[in-house]
Amino acid sequence: MSKTRNAVPVADRARPIDRQKAREIQAFGRVVHMPIALSETAARQSVENLNQVLADTVTLRDLYKKHHWQLAGPTFYQLHLLFDKHYEEQNELVDAIAERIQMLGGISLAMAADVAETTIVPRPPKGREEVPVQISRLLHAHEILLEEARSMARQATESGDDGTNDLLVSDIIRTNEKQVWFLAQHLVDVPLVKAD
Ligand SMILES: [Fe+2]
Repeated sequence: MSKTRNAVPVADRARPIDRQKAREIQAFGRVVHMPIALSETAARQSVENLNQVLADTVTLRDLYKKHHWQLAGPTFYQLHLLFDKHYEEQNELVDAIAERIQMLGGISLAMAADVAETTIVPRPPKGREEVPVQISRLLHAHEILLEEARSMARQATESGDDGTNDLLVSDIIRTNEKQVWFLAQHLVDVPLVKAD
């Protein structure tokens, strides 16, 4: 007969209790009150806005990786590296935005299917495209993000959510503006070898 502790056979105590299921502890869309001296209305508005920025940032991030992989042509090496650098920077923004949503008592979007349902960045084709088209697509996505981030930053200030305003301005807007600069210069038609 095996020894038991609290009626569980000793041999069974090391068995992982997997395949557990239970109800969610917070439904998506619900914002729980956090003790951060912000009104529930302000927190709810910021959570909703940040989830939109999150979906669009995840999409832009993934667009960079698509173009990093599918690149072709004489600028392959420099753009392969640049696209990956921007991907990493957008990836850091994704984490900062998602964590801000949780700090505010909300639930951040996480999975690809949910991101796809929410983003307003146009879906690219699955196939490969020429460099000027890839860059134009990225610039358009950046501009969508910048436009919404600026308007959401103003809303955050008006509702007293300075932390969200700071994330939008100091991190999201500044990073996107800088990346636009680096990309846009690749679409300036200057001679490579012989001056005009
Ligand atoms: Fe890579």
